[in-house]
Amino acid sequence: MFTTLRLSLVAVLSVTLAQAAVAADCAPLQQRGAEVFANECGVCHAVSKGTMGMMGPNLAGVVGRKSGSLEGFNYSQAMRNKNIDWQAENIAQLITQPQAYVPGTYMPYMGMASADDRQAVVCFLKEQH
Ligand code: HEC
Repeated sequence: MFTTLRLSLVAVLSVTLAQAAVAADCAPLQQRGAEVFANECGVCHAVSKGTMGMMGPNLAGVVGRKSGSLEGFNYSQAMRNKNIDWQAENIAQLITQPQAYVPGTYMPYMGMASADDRQAVVCFLKEQH
């Protein structure tokens, strides 16, 4: 009886740990990501649906979206031609040094040096639907 209980507890615990491991990368970074976004990106980009950014395209749902594809936004030819799906990795590359990743982009952002901040802001973007 005791052994059975212990075994099922172990089973429950390992499932919980496995699920936590998936989200563990991003969950603790949300707060930091929101701050970094507000400081570094929010001046140009909106993340609430239907809102126009000041200068850049709305980034709600950007993870999984094709580059240069938001209806009604006047992208550079460089961004139109990039032809990628935005994912965590390539968004991190873009913000490391926009002009290096998309030469000729209209995004006038010098780049983010901190890999931790890049990861945090990408985690934040994943949650903006
Ligand atoms: C000074 C304004 C400005 C800042 C600051 C800025 N961006 Fe941008 N961003 C732009 C513009 C303008 C574009 C469109 C670029 C083009 O057409 O070449 C863009 C494009 C993008 C795209 C591509 C979107 C698409 O629809 O293809 C992503 C992703 C992005 N920015 C993320 C960020 C993140 C994350 C930050 C903060 C670290 C940031 N940007 C900071 C102006 C800005």
